[in-house]
Amino acid sequence: MSARFAIEPLAKAHKRDDFTCGNDRIDSYFRETVSQDVKRKYATCFVAREIATDRVAGFYTLSSSNVPLTEVPEPLAKKLPRYPTVPAVLIGWLGRHSDYAGQGLGEALLFDAIKTVATAPIGAHAIFADAIDDQAAAFYVAFGFAPLVRQPRTLYLPVATALRLLPP
Ligand SMILES: CC(C)(COP(=O)(O)OP(=O)(O)OC[C@H]1O[C@@H](n2cnc3c(N)ncnc32)[C@H](O)[C@@H]1OP(=O)(O)O)[C@@H](O)C(=O)NCCC(=O)NCCS
Repeated sequence: MSARFAIEPLAKAHKRDDFTCGNDRIDSYFRETVSQDVKRKYATCFVAREIATDRVAGFYTLSSSNVPLTEVPEPLAKKLPRYPTVPAVLIGWLGRHSDYAGQGLGEALLFDAIKTVATAPIGAHAIFADAIDDQAAAFYVAFGFAPLVRQPRTLYLPVATALRLLPP
């Protein structure tokens, strides 16, 4: 997987106007809005580029955020400091071009996001994602993400647990 794709920060050279992952909201965000969010530092965006063709095969965004402690599922919450919020990084958007479906690219994007968060020199106890629909939620649940207490479409995973998913 890693030899076929390079995962790198979004740049002008990445052609975004025909990106299609099967979800219109994700497609139009990536085609029209993401560069403004990156410019304003509301998000960072990483792109999977197919090395042989230079095509954009997928992307994800990360933003600093937090999760209210009362939303963290038990038993994860009871081990945490009693601060009102848990420092976390939000995977705001993640999509893989439909031409590359079922080839492990969604997993490669998620693993790269975990690695990016785990190695950033900023404290983040957890990684979380707002799933756009039930299928997207099932994708995160398959990797061990747990739904928040009152927001079941928001999926949460401690970074230490996420790191154990990665190949050595
Ligand atoms: C969700 C998405 C990223 C998955 O990408 P993908 O490249 O097809 O997934 P992969 O091939 O990497 O699959 C990795 C593993 O996750 C599983 N998986 C993939 N999609 C899944 C889903 N919707 N539900 C449950 N498991 C799923 C696969 O079965 C695979 O497990 P396996 O290795 O045991 O077979 C892709 O379907 C997509 O871009 N969808 C539209 C946008 C979207 O829903 N984004 C999610 C964030 S909002």
